[in-house]
Amino acid sequence: MTTAEKDHPQTGPFLGVIFGASGDLAKRKLMPAIFNLSRDGLLDSSFAILGVSRKEMTDEAFRKKIIADMEELAPGELTESMKEKLIPHFFYMSGDVTQAETYERLKARMSEINQQCGTGGNAFFYLATAPTLFSPVIHALGNEGLIAETSDYWRRVVIEKPFGHDLGSAQQLNADIQRELGEDQIYRIDHYLGKETVQNIAVLRFANGMFQPFWSNLYIDHVQVTVAETLGVEGRGGYYEHAGALRDMIPNHILQLLSLIAMEMPLSFGADDMRNEQVKVLRAIRPLEGEDVTRNVIRGQYGPGTIDEKKLAAYRDEENVNPESLTETYVAMRLAIDNQRWAGVPFYLRTGKRLAERVTEIVVEFKKPPFTPFRETTVESLEPNQLIIRIQPDEGISLRFVTKVPGTLLELDEVDMEFRYADYFGRAPATGYDRLLYDCIRGEATLFRRADMVEAGWRAIAGIQAEWEVNPESLTDYSSGSWGPAEADALLSRDGRQWRVYV
Ligand code: BG6
Repeated sequence: MTTAEKDHPQTGPFLGVIFGASGDLAKRKLMPAIFNLSRDGLLDSSFAILGVSRKEMTDEAFRKKIIADMEELAPGELTESMKEKLIPHFFYMSGDVTQAETYERLKARMSEINQQCGTGGNAFFYLATAPTLFSPVIHALGNEGLIAETSDYWRRVVIEKPFGHDLGSAQQLNADIQRELGEDQIYRIDHYLGKETVQNIAVLRFANGMFQPFWSNLYIDHVQVTVAETLGVEGRGGYYEHAGALRDMIPNHILQLLSLIAMEMPLSFGADDMRNEQVKVLRAIRPLEGEDVTRNVIRGQYGPGTIDEKKLAAYRDEENVNPESLTETYVAMRLAIDNQRWAGVPFYLRTGKRLAERVTEIVVEFKKPPFTPFRETTVESLEPNQLIIRIQPDEGISLRFVTKVPGTLLELDEVDMEFRYADYFGRAPATGYDRLLYDCIRGEATLFRRADMVEAGWRAIAGIQAEWEVNPESLTDYSSGSWGPAEADALLSRDGRQWRVYV
């Protein structure tokens, strides 16, 4: 990013081409993000969005659909003046992305819109499509000369997850798209990196002197990352059957959280400096193989149960799910990071669907003091200090420590010192896509995954995938509405630890 761009918060002129424009992601995340950026005055007035999908639609029908979607998702937010101002920026083209003629028409349409809206030739292509189309679409764009940059304009491609389904396929996909694109043109999305609270992990660690001396195996006992969802697979059975909780959440979202917690201090928050440090720590994760997988990784699948007094079906009874499915909807694991800072500190990760509560949290648990002069008190039985980073919902940070209970006797208890985003900043943090789209348009890649990061994520779980392939039966049931299989509790209790308890 140039200094001029930094000083000027608005994007420059651009055209955003969205493949998969009639799909759910475009409706729920991308279009609202464009509206939010425009409302916040962050878009240049010379911008346009061109939706592409198979469905036959005119520009007019597409514009009507966008308004209807917005009204459904955020009733009352879209004022008449916003509609008038924004809607002429939206265009639509129907086309089959597997056909070469679609790209000829796309080229013509892009240059027409460029003339009409003055987008300066700058364009990003957003692949909100099935992952099998990532490579073919990029090659077709390349064949039509649509992703070649000149000194006058930029061209970028945004790729959704999943980026491959294992290390080999991710390496193949990287090699394939790098034949058409420079790495600096590729923006691999991980929507967790767009979350305010996730970005704040690095700020918390590196902008506050007080945490730095404690941030290592000298003072930290272990780290827990919990990403618990109450939702099930919600009609995505077809996708989820092939993904499972491990692929769906660990090599991307959860390892991103881990990398931010465990990375060394970067030279700057610039894309290269940040990502160089993140990838180093991902590469330091000790690979688990064979027996170690059985000892350190638990996989579960939800059975029937109740959440909020609602009776819920088992995973195997969900739509598009094999009634004998061996796909996991829960995974918990114990990882080690082999470097000087973290040697001996376990990182416990867990994620699952249909759990008791929706919560994403990181718990950094400190070691107990080696000696305390409170022999006659309850201090021996008190829990250790914890720094809790609440990613969602009710975003915030809290610090748990021991204090004296007021009174004549020396009695001690644990208390929480809490910071809640809502108390300080009054508004809910954005969902993430606003920030990510804005950054992509400005050429700022810090919050996107670089090729080596994606591969390091897959490499970290490759041994687990291999073990499960030969031993797919290693699956335990848990009831919907519970906290997952009992084996996941045992994973910590055998180390004398326990998962943070939510009430
Ligand atoms: C997606 C996964 O990437 O992240 C979903 O495919 C999961 O299965 C979702 O539910 C969780 O995202 P969030 O933002 O709701 O925590």
